[in-house]
Amino acid sequence: MHPKRYLVTSALPYANGLKHVGHLAGAYIPADIYVRYLRAQQRDVVFVCGSDEHGTAIPIQAMKEGSTAQQIIDKYHQAMKEDFADLGISFDIYHRTSDPLHHETAQEFFTYLHERNELETKETEQYYDEASHTFLADRYIKGTCPHCKSDRAFGDQCESCGTALSPDELINPVSTISGNTPVKRKTTHWYLPLAKHEAFLREWILEQHKDDWRTSVVGQCKSWIDGGLQSRAVTRDLDWGIKVPMKDADGKVLYVWFDAPIGYISATKQWAIDQQKDWKPYWYDNDTQLVHFIGKDNIVFHCIIFPVMLKLHGNILPTNVPANEFLNLEGDKMSTSRNWKLEMRDFITDFVKKENGGDQCVDMLRYYLTQIAPESKDSEFTWKGFQDAVNNELVAVFGNFVNRTFVLMHKLCGGKVPVYHPDFEDNTDRQLRQDIQEAKVKVETAIEQYKFREALFEVIDLARKGNKYMQEKEPWIKVKTLQEDPSQQQSIDNCLHNCLQLTANLSILIHPFLPSTALKMCKMMKLVEKVLDWSNAGNLKLLSVGYSLREPQLLFRKIDDEEIEAQIQKLKSAAMQSSEQSTDQPVSTYLPLKPEISIDDFGKIDLRTGVILSAQKVPKADKLLQLEVDLGFEKRTILSGIAMHFSPEDIIGKQVIVVANLAPRKMRGIDSNGMILMAEDLNGTLHFASAGDVATGGWKVS
Ligand code: MF3
Ligand code: ZN
Repeated sequence: MHPKRYLVTSALPYANGLKHVGHLAGAYIPADIYVRYLRAQQRDVVFVCGSDEHGTAIPIQAMKEGSTAQQIIDKYHQAMKEDFADLGISFDIYHRTSDPLHHETAQEFFTYLHERNELETKETEQYYDEASHTFLADRYIKGTCPHCKSDRAFGDQCESCGTALSPDELINPVSTISGNTPVKRKTTHWYLPLAKHEAFLREWILEQHKDDWRTSVVGQCKSWIDGGLQSRAVTRDLDWGIKVPMKDADGKVLYVWFDAPIGYISATKQWAIDQQKDWKPYWYDNDTQLVHFIGKDNIVFHCIIFPVMLKLHGNILPTNVPANEFLNLEGDKMSTSRNWKLEMRDFITDFVKKENGGDQCVDMLRYYLTQIAPESKDSEFTWKGFQDAVNNELVAVFGNFVNRTFVLMHKLCGGKVPVYHPDFEDNTDRQLRQDIQEAKVKVETAIEQYKFREALFEVIDLARKGNKYMQEKEPWIKVKTLQEDPSQQQSIDNCLHNCLQLTANLSILIHPFLPSTALKMCKMMKLVEKVLDWSNAGNLKLLSVGYSLREPQLLFRKIDDEEIEAQIQKLKSAAMQSSEQSTDQPVSTYLPLKPEISIDDFGKIDLRTGVILSAQKVPKADKLLQLEVDLGFEKRTILSGIAMHFSPEDIIGKQVIVVANLAPRKMRGIDSNGMILMAEDLNGTLHFASAGDVATGGWKVS
């Protein structure tokens, strides 16, 4: 018996950059195959995904691009959504975690757990950057790696040796925001006490699912549980994210890994609103099969932490979490920082959008990525491998079989489906007809067990059997002896009849994997898309006798040597460029932007140009200079913290911009009436913000 409904999820990608084919092979293509298969079975299925828009990855990317977090998520949300659509990933909804519906949903979830005392609070000491007034998330702390002594180590991981680190392990920690040494400061956070749920996790994963979940998934969970389950903080001191819905939680947001998986629920809600359906059964009814498609770095979140959250919140648990291993590229790990990667968008630009009928290239990529899917161990994308898969399997086996069938049917059977003569059926015919029926069972068994490589192999193998069958039957030879032996016509008819029924079956079986190829085949056979219903697989009467079919169309094109050479060159030169850049560029030296203000906020500031008439040191204050500034309409005394940067005699006569309506402030017994604007460059040197040739007393707003 099938479950009543399915909810299928693909990991929500971070909206901090374009995604590469490793992501595609790990969490999106397998999910898409599974979902298309379920839909072809007419099962009730919803496929959700969306952008993961919180966490430190976003503001860090904003700093790198000299942009704001909001601009970053808007840009990459749109781009990722388009790329997935271009590659045929058929989400029912592609949502985003910045959506208010998600904020509400995640906050409700937190409140629910909090009210039931399922969260605990703890005070700890964390690194704080006094210059930027922020607690430093792991990624914002740089230092020397305690293991390899490289200075490219961050608070979560060393970029050189890859060791996972905690900020406390770093030697000489430095804030990447200000460049200063951070200090320790006390802060309170909410935690999810996982240890309380150890018995449940052991029973649920290590007993109930030890046989139906992938070995690597169960193995990772086991080592986590055996290693001792620690309480996990579910809040952070950050200003980018979902506000903790509590009093006295200013400056605190939900930890991105708390909110992101709840995004699956918000996405389902939004889908239900759009479709006027009820979302609740998908998350509360036990007859729902929930399946999370992810990469292996996400296992603990989807198999341990989120399930504990779901259980506490009264939701259903995932039925399976078919996590994939990693996909390497041309002999090396894919890496965004080293620019060793093939982005989905690059493939789309270089292949899909470059030619008419580019959707054959989409299917060629989907084919190769499924054929090498890292289901049980890491695997590797190579351009040569891509070329071989396309040329030797898609073109030479699958495409060739379909094409030969059509060409011969037009040549020998007048373009119509020939009659089948049971009396002339021989063992070879019977074998092929049996192979077709068995293939259906093999493919569906493999898909239901999340073995997509194997399932695809079975489809291609069936096409291979078709070629072999034709080779044995040799209708092109038989036609030559038709004069002497008219009974050869029956044999020719049977051969092409079977080959055509096989072609129709192949279109159904290949459909979840290569959707546009299947549609193209339907067109050639003049079949409506509805025929692709899975219940028709194994049927040997899909094409009626006498039905006339179209001329064949090539399903796939070959990949030339030049094309793959060009891609390899492109990969190498991009990596080379990025390594040149990374040696002379600091990681991040830009201050994060403060929250947005309105033009009215800005309008309250009265900026004037002035000129420094005199300057002197303030006794017992290392940093302060006392300035006399002429604003034209009056002279002001202003204290400025620039004594470490300038000698008083050097700045007399300098033009400055003054915040002229700042409330007076007394320092060291002296009233300061305003503030002068200075600019600090990337080396920490101060410069006078200049107003050019504006006369003293001028007003500057641009
Ligand atoms: N954004 C995460 C990543 O790319 C995945 C989030 S999956 C979710 O690794 F469950 F949290 F949504
Ligand atoms: Zn290291």
